[in-house]
Amino acid sequence: MVEERNISVLFVCLGNICRSPTAEGVFRKLVADAGLAEKIHIDSAGTHAFHSSEPPDRRAQAAALRRGFELSDIRARRVSANDYEQFDFILAMDGDNLAVLRERAGEECTATIRLFLDFSESSRESEVPDPYYGGTAGFERVLDIVEAAAGELLRHIREERL
Ligand code: 4NP
Repeated sequence: MVEERNISVLFVCLGNICRSPTAEGVFRKLVADAGLAEKIHIDSAGTHAFHSSEPPDRRAQAAALRRGFELSDIRARRVSANDYEQFDFILAMDGDNLAVLRERAGEECTATIRLFLDFSESSRESEVPDPYYGGTAGFERVLDIVEAAAGELLRHIREERL
């Protein structure tokens, strides 16, 4: 019998309090609803540690909860050196995050480091825009983009990797 592999996905933004915890929460629910919670390990982190150990931004939590995604248990952390060996996919929310991730990746890195939206053919965007300094609409927009892309990411993982 062929052993089915587990897959791990790390979502990364700048502060790990708005975009990447939103992606974590949305993807976690999608994966659980598909009965794959035991097979796909999901986490999020930030390239910087400004908000380490804080829960997601209140605005991100409220917007997510209105759509049925619970983010309150997530705590911000900075990307660690181990993440590069422990995750199969490290998915950046924007080009700046991607550049920082690639710059810090050492030779031991075994992860595929890409933009999250590389896996979304339907998205007209290539980046998830940073909502931190804007209003509520920015958080809704993040959710619109992330919800659409999460389904496409799961399809990709099921087809290619599980
Ligand atoms: P995130 O948003 O990267 O989506 O978590 C931000 C959070 C905090 C800051 C910037 C963006 N900040 O400058 O503190």
